[in-house]
Order: sequence, then C-alpha cells, then structure tokens
Amino acid sequence: MKTKNGRVYIVGAGPGDPELISVKGLKALKKADCVLYDFLSSPELLKYANPRAEKICVGKKDGLHLKEQDEINKLLYKKALQYKNVVRLKGGDPFIFSRGYEEARYLSNKGIGYEVIPGITSAIAGPESYGIPLTIKNRISSVAILTGRKKDINAPIDAPDCATLVYLMGVRNIKNIVKALRKSKRSEDTPCAFIEKATNKDSRIVRGTISNIEDNVKKFNVKPPAVLIVGEVVKNGHKS
Ligand SMILES: C[S@@+](CC[C@H](N)C(=O)[O-])C[C@H]1O[C@@H](n2cnc3c(N)ncnc32)[C@H](O)[C@@H]1O
Repeated sequence: MKTKNGRVYIVGAGPGDPELISVKGLKALKKADCVLYDFLSSPELLKYANPRAEKICVGKKDGLHLKEQDEINKLLYKKALQYKNVVRLKGGDPFIFSRGYEEARYLSNKGIGYEVIPGITSAIAGPESYGIPLTIKNRISSVAILTGRKKDINAPIDAPDCATLVYLMGVRNIKNIVKALRKSKRSEDTPCAFIEKATNKDSRIVRGTISNIEDNVKKFNVKPPAVLIVGEVVKNGHKS
C-alpha cells in the first residue's frame, strides 16, 4: 500500500502478562515515536517503549472510555501525520472485539499505511492459562468466541451449536447469557468457568455449571475482565 507520512502498527499486547506480546510487537514498540494505548494493555509493556516516544492513554476498559472511538481514529491519523512510526497498542488481539479493524479501515481511507501485529487473545489465553483446552482431537471439534454483551443490552445473546463457547464481556450480562444457553437446549450440568484477570498475578477461576454459574458470579464477586468458557472442556485443567 502507498503510504503517506507515518505508518501505524496496530499491535496486540496480549492478555496481561507482559511477556505474552510477540517479538514483532515488541520490536514495533521499541522503535515507535508515539504509542496510543488502552487500559487493558499491560502498563509494564510501556517501559519497553522508546523513552522519547510520546505515550497517550486513550483508555478503553469494559464500558469506561476516556475517548470516543471517533476521537481515537482522528488522533491516530493526526499522530501518523506527525511521526514516522506510531503504535496502537490494544489488549489481547487487536481484531477480537477491539475495534482494531475499524481503526485500520479509517487509516486506510485516509491514505495512511498500517500493519496489524496479532496478539494472544484472552479468549484463548484465559482457558489455556488454567490448562483448559478449547478443542480436543477427535472429541471436541468446534469453538466459538462470542460477545456476552451487545450494544442493545436487551438483545439476545448468541449460543451457537458448538462444543465450546467462549464469552468475552459477559460478567455483567451473565443472566442473559444463561438464558441463551438454556434456550440452546444445553444440559443444566454443562460445565462453565469464569477466568478473571487471566495471566495476571491475581488471576482466578470460578467454576460452575449452567445451573449455578449466575449465582457463583455473585457469590464469588466475579469482576471484569473475565472470560466465560462453556462446555465439556471445562472439566479439564487446574482446580484453582
Ligand atoms: C473489549 S474486549 C477486548 C478483548 C481483547 N481484544 C482480547 O483479544 O482479549 C474486553 C474483554 O476481554 C476479556 N479480557 C481481556 N483481558 C482479559 C484478561 N486478562 N482476563 C480475562 N478476560 C479478559 C474480558 O471479557 C473483557 O471484558
């Protein structure tokens, strides 16, 4: 793509543990003249950034936005005109429920060159950090990654016919997720688990089944960020 001025690297920071960023992502961070980052990216990662780089928190965290998406797009464009290398650092993977695609499209429409550097999504890192596989050869052959919260909070939640379901942004809408799971005719005994703050030092797992996961969210005071895994795979992995 023909580039005008700077180039924007849309980088996945990974789920929390700063060591889970890719080598390519780290290289981009080190040579960036400007870094625009979200709350969810590990703050520790910023110490690897060029010390002279301009660092801007555009803060996006479960419902709390320091800047609206339109403002972020415009700021990215402005910084791409100002600097040679700009990094847009986003939690997990930048295209999984993260508006990275919208930012890339905006830049592209403005004639700015960009590159996407994928990150490890919490949808995968969460379960795997507790030894829970999302697929198992010859037994569990499908997995879906879903949003647990839609723009219209009353809109029905998806529960497709897959062996494993992983919901992001589901803590506050657990009631509607359980409603969707019941409607999908899954057994009440289907194992479920919330993994809170995956790959961070204070991460924890709260297990249950469709019948009691909503109660367990309240009982154990589960808070975002957390991923919900639903399916037989949850029987595997570490206890805590
Ligand atoms: C706006 S989405 C961004 C997802 C991100 N792009 C990714 O690939 O992980 C935010 C949601 O991701 C999940 N999430 C992000 N980081 C997490 C973590 N360390 N542990 C558990 N869930 C996490 C939570 O469900 C949270 O509400």
